[in-house]
Amino acid sequence: MTKSQLISLLNDMTLDEKIGQLVQVNGNFFLEEENVQTGPISRLGINEDMIYKVGSIINTVGAKNVITVQDKYLEKSRLKIPLMFMADIINGYKTVFPIPLAQGCSWNTEVVKRCAQIAMKEASVAGVNVNFYPMVDVVRDARWGRVMESTGGEDTYLNEIYSKVLVNAIQGNDISKEGNCVACIKHFAAYGAVESGREYNKVDMSERELRQYYLSPYKSGIEEKAKMIMTSFNIVDGIPATINKWLLREILRGEYGFDGIVISDYSAIQETISHGVSQDKKDAALRAINAGVDIDMLTNVYSNFLKELVKEDVLTISLIDEAVYRILKLKNELKLFENPYGNANAEKEKKILLNKENLEEARKLTRETFVLLKNEKNILPIKENQKIALIGPYADNFAITGEWSMFSERENIVTIKQALEERIGKEKILYAKGSNMLTTREMNYILKSEGKPLLKNGEELKTKKKYLNEAMTVAKNADIIVLAVGEHYKQSGEGNARVSIRLPKLQINLINVLKTLNKPIIMILFNGRPLVLEEVENKIDAILDVWFPGTEGARAIWDILFGNESPSGKLNMCFPEHEGQIPIYYNQYNTGRPNINNLRFESRYQDASIYPKYPFGFGLSYSKFEYKDLKLSSTILHKGKYDKITVSVTVKNCGKFDAKEIVQLYIQDLFGNVVRPIKELKGFKKVLIKANEKKKVEFEITEEMLKFWNKDLEYVSEKGTFKVYVGCNSKECLEDKFELI
Ligand code: GLC
Repeated sequence: MTKSQLISLLNDMTLDEKIGQLVQVNGNFFLEEENVQTGPISRLGINEDMIYKVGSIINTVGAKNVITVQDKYLEKSRLKIPLMFMADIINGYKTVFPIPLAQGCSWNTEVVKRCAQIAMKEASVAGVNVNFYPMVDVVRDARWGRVMESTGGEDTYLNEIYSKVLVNAIQGNDISKEGNCVACIKHFAAYGAVESGREYNKVDMSERELRQYYLSPYKSGIEEKAKMIMTSFNIVDGIPATINKWLLREILRGEYGFDGIVISDYSAIQETISHGVSQDKKDAALRAINAGVDIDMLTNVYSNFLKELVKEDVLTISLIDEAVYRILKLKNELKLFENPYGNANAEKEKKILLNKENLEEARKLTRETFVLLKNEKNILPIKENQKIALIGPYADNFAITGEWSMFSERENIVTIKQALEERIGKEKILYAKGSNMLTTREMNYILKSEGKPLLKNGEELKTKKKYLNEAMTVAKNADIIVLAVGEHYKQSGEGNARVSIRLPKLQINLINVLKTLNKPIIMILFNGRPLVLEEVENKIDAILDVWFPGTEGARAIWDILFGNESPSGKLNMCFPEHEGQIPIYYNQYNTGRPNINNLRFESRYQDASIYPKYPFGFGLSYSKFEYKDLKLSSTILHKGKYDKITVSVTVKNCGKFDAKEIVQLYIQDLFGNVVRPIKELKGFKKVLIKANEKKKVEFEITEEMLKFWNKDLEYVSEKGTFKVYVGCNSKECLEDKFELI
């Protein structure tokens, strides 16, 4: 349709039809089966008449379902305006990839891009028009369950990079084409900074802090033409983001020039009443439409109150028209007026979903997301003919795809035990479960949060001894123990904040018991967040963090453990030594009393270090890399002259494995008219270096990289002295200095 045709369609619409376009419901009204819920299920209280006017459907997927719903809806739609279908395809549709936090640890934009492109290839033929992804919230608090969704983790720059990559990977160059969807950036804004890591909690910081560390990843995605953005549940400067005019009109649409659709998060408009700002649903509807929220996700606030506000002359119809026009425009760009089914195609689903090339590529991509945290005496890779005892609650467990893999089926997931059998044959497998995943108490936290019947206390005691004895038996007959342990997948993800982010108690006990055998122990760690490993770390010889690695995760794990490829991932979020250190992140401030001598009157703890167990950017390889010859092409950069300094370093692979190394560039502004962090990531390069070879790696420093939000809220660079760091992680770097004059 042309713009004038869209305008005339808008003019033909009744007020009810216009309001309907601003309403999103799930597909249950049109389908018998329950579809996925990602928030509290509540009676929507939307009348039948309005149901056949809504603009979009959430989390109804599958070509058959989408076509059925679209047909039923259009049958009763006067103007035949097709529905849009939106869903959370966070780390894969049917082929599930590693969780975003893991993908981000690859520090390989190609890996992140390909995971998203394959996911969109599958989702688009399943009828998905809009993907509620990328999540680009900067996250510094591992207690928060949703750190698992962040690709850039604790760093602003990394989130900016991945935001751009993901928007382009999801949208391609034409959102109507098969293999592409609309990207919906979320959660605007600063949802990752929830106080105490508690879900939906307060976010409060200066505008300068907000701009310096949290806003730019959303802006980066908008610059790549993301067509939708989702408001966050939290407040920003005391006002819920979903009704925050400063945030949504001045910053998002004004300063950033965003002209796409703003969708609320799940029932977030209605929740502004619980926040204590909107008086009631009518007030919430007015505040949200005034702030520029176009779609009300899963409540009846817009459907039941906007009309009244217009009739009472409290709300001008033009605000509704602008929202409706944006929705019609997006449907037009998706070519839904010409083909209301979009790319939904049951025949193509059979060929594309979980096909061989998707799975093979998933296996390859997944390998780069693992982080080798420890490898004492180079116990890894596993040597030929070493007898392996595979033990642990994750050793033969399908649940390795993470909390946001709700459209995948477990029968497509290969377990670690099955993958090992594939490689060495069933007869060679020494396996024992070793322990339950969780104690009853830990499991009941999960069951209670889902309103399910609780287990009786002590339930696990019935099997504890049996599992331990079996584990000891197989371990005694092996040369090495491969332990598959970690968090339950429902201990992270939305609504799963935890104050204790340690291994489950039964698994700690299992490790203690196995340690008495004094055999080498290799830990495969499954987790949706950084964990505190203080009870077990010194009992383990090697730790490979595999996060929740997805459909091909198990095969990829053995590829790494047997040395077919060296691990190359590095942390995008540090591992605290203790929860009490949180929030903890690498780019902290020096303070007036930096912790130099660990004396009382310094910025320190009496009973713990101020540093993480494993820092941002950390990850080991099967090779060792030596950094030498840090050189700067000049020690002077001229303000306003657009000149550059070339930084070079020589990196040598001193090991016997060809391996990839992530070379990191950090910069420190020694003085500013506001404090500046002790270092900030400004660049990285992942390079393959063959055994015993070396490579010269170069970066360019420009004035743009030195800019920051100053005390007057200007984004500027200031003349002065800067330090440059180049290294293998945020702690171990070579350093030099230069001046901006
Ligand atoms: C959830 C999440 C959001 C998701 C939405 C729809 O509450 O906050 O990330 O896209 O609901 O499922």
